[in-house]
Amino acid sequence: MRRIGILLSGRGSNFEAIARNAASGRLDAAIAVVISNRPQAPGLELARSLGLPALAIPSKGLDREAYDALVIEALHAHDVELVVLAGYMRLLSPGFIRAFPMRILNIHPSLLPAFPGLDAQHQAFEYGVRVSGCTVHFVDEHLDHGPIVMQAAVPVRAEDTAESLSARILAEEHRIYSEAIRIVLSGRYRISGRRIVTEEY
Ligand code: GRF
Repeated sequence: MRRIGILLSGRGSNFEAIARNAASGRLDAAIAVVISNRPQAPGLELARSLGLPALAIPSKGLDREAYDALVIEALHAHDVELVVLAGYMRLLSPGFIRAFPMRILNIHPSLLPAFPGLDAQHQAFEYGVRVSGCTVHFVDEHLDHGPIVMQAAVPVRAEDTAESLSARILAEEHRIYSEAIRIVLSGRYRISGRRIVTEEY
């Protein structure tokens, strides 16, 4: 079974969706470990309740490289092959990217490259876009930037608030993240510049 490691800082609803798909066999992967920089993250509690190895690695007093070295060590100790960021609120160091080259995924709640950074759903809503969505991409050293594996579009409705739009985007996040993980684990894609070319599209 292919082993994935989840990094999160908060609620963990994307992690939960992935865990459900892994448990039901819809996603042929095992969650080897869940790691959070925030000991209080609800996602860690959720991992424990699902019987998954859950580690808090607080970052206080450590610089980015030193902190990331601890996380890399924990991921290696659990034989993780693919790192999945699921609401992980830290920028990864160059050393982290080098330790898992093209082996780190992130999900972002906008159609990148529009609205990188925090609160993307609110940014998109306030900007007045008619279509937003979510993006799963490989992680590089820049924020919300690496090659795109999968996107889903979510139309903005006249009656939407930023909250109702966020909720519909989140439902799509839960759907596409496992799909993207499946594609990456299958190895059935090639990379041409920034483009990920799969058999599916
Ligand atoms: C999601 O909106 C994700 O796109 C962003 O952080 C949020 C995490 O939510 N990167 P959750 O913790 O998975 O519920």
